[in-house]
Order: sequence, then C-alpha cells, then structure tokens
Amino acid sequence: MQVIRTIADLRSHVATWRRDGHRVGLVPTMGALHPGHASLIKRSAADADRTVVTIFVNPTQFSPQEDFATYPRDEARDLDIITGAGGHLVFAPEIREVYRDGHRTKVEVQSLGQTLEGEFRPHFFVGVATIVAKLLIQALPDIAVFGEKDYQQLCVIRQMAQDLDIPTEIIGAETVREPDGLAMSSRNRYLSNAERIIAPAMHAAISQAAGRIAKGANPATAAAEAVSEVLSAGFQRVDYIAARDAETLREPAKGRPMRILATAWLGQARLIDNVAV
Ligand code: PAF
Repeated sequence: MQVIRTIADLRSHVATWRRDGHRVGLVPTMGALHPGHASLIKRSAADADRTVVTIFVNPTQFSPQEDFATYPRDEARDLDIITGAGGHLVFAPEIREVYRDGHRTKVEVQSLGQTLEGEFRPHFFVGVATIVAKLLIQALPDIAVFGEKDYQQLCVIRQMAQDLDIPTEIIGAETVREPDGLAMSSRNRYLSNAERIIAPAMHAAISQAAGRIAKGANPATAAAEAVSEVLSAGFQRVDYIAARDAETLREPAKGRPMRILATAWLGQARLIDNVAV
C-alpha cells in the first residue's frame, strides 16, 4: 500500500484505476484510526475495487480554542489499520498542499449545517463541507463512506454533494460501539479511567429516550429526560440532546423518521452520539 502526498499523484493513481475499469471508493479521515474507521474502509472495499483513505487533520474545522494542535496523530499505526482493513492507497497531504496560498473558497451548507452542532461550533461544518468537497473533486470516487456516528456531518455532506452535482454516492456506515455501548471515537482517549466508566451513560440515555418516543412519548419531553439522566450520571454539561427529523434535522413531525442527536462534556472529552427512533 502506497502513501502519497500530492493531489497530482492522487489524480494519476485514480486515472490509472479508471483506465483499468476499477470502481473507486474514498474514506476521508483525520487519522487516529480505530475499529470504527476500519469498518468504513471495509465497507468501501466491499463495494469498490480500489479504496483511497485520506489522512488529513483539517485545520479549518477547528476553532482557535479547540484541539487542532493536540489532536492525536500516529501515521505508522494508521497505516497498519488501513492495510488490515483492505485500503489500497493513502492520501496524506501537508496543509499547504490542500490550502495553498491565496485559498479563498468556503463551502457552507445552510440550515442543516447551522443547527445543533452548528450552533455550538459555527466554523465546523463550513470546514468539513469545504475539505470533503475538495477531496471528492480531487479523487472523483464512485463512492465515499462516512460514519453515522457523526450523523449531522453525514447529512451535511450528502446535501453538499447533491447541491454541487458531485457524482459520488455518499454512504453512511453504522456506528461501531464498545461492548458497553460507547461509540468509538478518536477523542475517547481524552477520557480518564473514571470518566470512561461514566461515558456509556449518554448512549444508554438516548436509547431509552428513543424507546419512549417509539412508544408514543413526546419527543421534547423524552429528550429533556435524557439530559437529566446524562447529567445525573456525571457528565458536566450537555450541549444538546434533541429529537429531530432524520433527514432535515428540523423539529420532528409525526410519521417522519426521527433521530436523537446528543453531545455532552465529560472532563476534557466532548462526546457525540445519535440513535434512530
Ligand atoms: O469525520 C472526520 O473525521 C472529519 O470530519 C472528516 C470527514 C474526515 C473531514 O475532515
């Protein structure tokens, strides 16, 4: 498996694969890979003949107060995981290859990117939509796979690809969880041992809320109960727990698919999760 650092090399590899009639998959990541990422790579490898995995800690999706400088980076370990999961090529560019001097363009997905996570991190989805649009245009894959763990991100990326007429099928892959229900995340390593024991309480609370809504409970009441449960379990702060329309992320309406999205702070870790109702 080869590691390349330039867009020109990426395009040349993909062009060769295309000449050979191969179907191409893309799995964008920020590195610090774990079994959740491995499942995305396997999903791509099951559907495409060649899979490109990108490793790029994207500065534009971090605010100056966030953990860009300390975000975990371990390329050697990432490469082992990518090889084991069936990736064929790794695109790991330097920042100046992606954001060249004079870069001026941002991609903003209105409404979907401005609610929930967008209210707490207004910079975030602009950074994500911009980098993912660039990666899709650079690689022009047939499919691109993203985790459902970042459910709002997946919705934003789908909308962006549709609006910009990017002919890539966006695939959402199921969240991979620890045996106690905690969603796998690169940021789980920020949890202390004591916090790690508390952490699954958020998934438990939103799963119970989903169960109550499915049995007829009011979505806003069920979400408020989940907030209390998460705080009682020992989380310091809940940014949001909300039941929303699963496609538009607007307030839920009867008869429409619904999703509960949650983000809460436990020590240094800001944990994010969601479940279907
Ligand atoms: O989910 C992530 O790891 C990132 O937000 C992504 C999609 C790779 C864009 O930088």
